[in-house]
Amino acid sequence: SYSLPQYTREDVKKHKNPSDRIWVTYAGEVFDITDFVDLHPGGNRILLAAGGALEPFWALYGVHKSEHVMEILQEYKVGVL
Ligand code: HEM
Repeated sequence: SYSLPQYTREDVKKHKNPSDRIWVTYAGEVFDITDFVDLHPGGNRILLAAGGALEPFWALYGVHKSEHVMEILQEYKVGVL
């Protein structure tokens, strides 16, 4: 939503471990996925994307191209790029 705060990729990079929160980006939006990491069906591989973009990883793991995954992601939205 346009009312969410705007962040830069540099801001997102600062969030790559649980004590700083874990942020990722997807399609121009920013997500705080800290509370999802332990729920991820693909285990801690999710941490490879910490502080950066999901796209390169999801290009490799096509299981994420689903409405269900998009719904999960939207729950964690905290901002836009
Ligand atoms: C599976 C969500 C990031 C690797 C899944 C599934 C969900 C999910 C819901 C189960 C899909 C299904 O079986 O229908 C997410 C979300 C992510 C994320 C919300 C980011 C916020 C990643 C990343 C990687 C990854 C960055 C790899 C670097 C995998 C793999 C599976 C999987 C390998 C398959 C696990 C299996 O079936 O054994 N993910 N994922 N995921 N994810 Fe992710």
